Amino acid sequence: MSLSRGSLSLLLSLCLLSAVHALICYENDEQGNTHERSSPDFKYCSLIPFGSDSGRGRLSGVSDTTENTSGFDATFAQSSAHYGVLAMCIFEKYDFSAISPVFGPAPEYMFRCFCSTDRCNRESTFSGFL
Ligand SMILES: *[C@@H]1O[C@H](CO)[C@@H](O)[C@H](O)[C@H]1NC(C)=O
Repeated sequence: MSLSRGSLSLLLSLCLLSAVHALICYENDEQGNTHERSSPDFKYCSLIPFGSDSGRGRLSGVSDTTENTSGFDATFAQSSAHYGVLAMCIFEKYDFSAISPVFGPAPEYMFRCFCSTDRCNRESTFSGFL
């Protein structure tokens, strides 16, 4: 099989595009300001409903340097032509007292959602979804 010059350059362009694609996520800061951040390291955007001090969601980008994403990777990889995993939410328990008694005996619980497309952790959209 031989590729024409046109399809070869199209293929090269697609490779370049995917190589430089950086996921765009919403993030918020301590002041409650929401802004977009894009990083080639982001694998998912996340939202913790009611997770910020103001009672609004905590928004961030997630890379595999800050968290082991292999479980999410396996779930999102199930997507096919007729099936898509759009978001994944998990309910977790963290028992930090096992690390140090300064954290106190009560475990912390966290409900977090992850998604993998640009700006998918927009809070207004996610609230409706939840
Ligand atoms: C991430 O988690 C998977 C499944 O528990 C494990 O097999 C893998 O070694 C972990 N990777 C890292 C870098 O910790």
